[in-house]
Amino acid sequence: MSDRDGRDDRDGRARKGRDGQAKEPEIRGEDGHVLRPDERAGQQLDDEQVARQTEIQAEEAKTRAELQAEAAGEQPERGVHQDMATSGAGAVVPDAPILIEVSDVVAGYVPEVDILNGCDLTLHEGEIVGIVGPNGAGKSTLLKALFGLIPVRSGEVTFRGEDIAAKPAHALVEMGIGYVPQNDNVFPSLTIRENLQMGCYLDQSKFDRRLGDMVETFPRLGERLDQRAGALSGGERQMLAMSRALMMEPEVMLMDEPSAGLSPDLQDEVFVNAKKINKAGVSIIMVEQNARRCLQICDRGYVLDQGRNAYTGGGRDLLDDPKVIELYLGTLAQVD
Ligand SMILES: Nc1ncnc2c1ncn2[C@@H]1O[C@H](COP(=O)(O)OP(=O)(O)O)[C@@H](O)[C@H]1O
Ligand SMILES: [Mg+2]
Repeated sequence: MSDRDGRDDRDGRARKGRDGQAKEPEIRGEDGHVLRPDERAGQQLDDEQVARQTEIQAEEAKTRAELQAEAAGEQPERGVHQDMATSGAGAVVPDAPILIEVSDVVAGYVPEVDILNGCDLTLHEGEIVGIVGPNGAGKSTLLKALFGLIPVRSGEVTFRGEDIAAKPAHALVEMGIGYVPQNDNVFPSLTIRENLQMGCYLDQSKFDRRLGDMVETFPRLGERLDQRAGALSGGERQMLAMSRALMMEPEVMLMDEPSAGLSPDLQDEVFVNAKKINKAGVSIIMVEQNARRCLQICDRGYVLDQGRNAYTGGGRDLLDDPKVIELYLGTLAQVD
């Protein structure tokens, strides 16, 4: 299935939902009532659902195998976005429309101290773009500037061509941008269901349908909807944090270090999930300390250093670039 197919599938389902027609096949319990999304977990699936689940699992297995092949030192075939990499665009300038464009952005926290010193970044529709670089390079700061959490002092930030540099975070959520911060990204005292409700606080009418989608994408969360988020493992918390941001059906997800603090296996799970989300039609900007893994799954990557772009290129091209390896991957990204 191509990316474009993935997007159409998601859009198709969303459109049906808005038209008020049956958006998901109805599943009935033993007493005949139509099961709520959370009741569906573990129930008999119909053919369409089985086909979708099979497709999702095949994609997951493919990403996992690619990550493991790389960890074992094998050279896998080029990237997970082969169609884009071999499309003649050289993997670096995809044909897809630009969603987010950051140009020459200067930003910081304390007056007169700039942390970002003129950063550029482009996200095309359908892409996963990675931001890697040493600690303190300004990676999180760039995401915060993009998401309206710190002021942009100069330069431009646009979303689908519209200037968003001065927009607050909630306006960006309404426009279709989701953000998963690095820390404190779930409400530990709330249940999983309540956390997901918080994700819909700007539009509760989405809740039932999106809960169904999340249960389908992340069955493990669906099995535990009434448990407190504080009881989840680190990997499950990341899954919940991503789901919460996805509840508003963003076009773009900004993720800050989603694999931080997780064991290598769970880190792989995070990247598998990011791919899964991307396949479902969400474009992603991902900041990662695990540079190798990140660049493996990314279409394109940016190496940031001291608040400036140091290197930019296709994910695999950066992984293979001797200068990038020497300066940024040698010690930074050793996880295996
Ligand atoms: N809330 C803050 N107030 C002041 N300075 C900050 C704040 N957060 C980060 N910084 C500084 O900004 C620089 C870049 O930090 P950050 O963007 O978090 O780096 P990275 O995510 O690349 O590790 C660091 O020097 C850090 O000390
Ligand atoms: Mg950071």
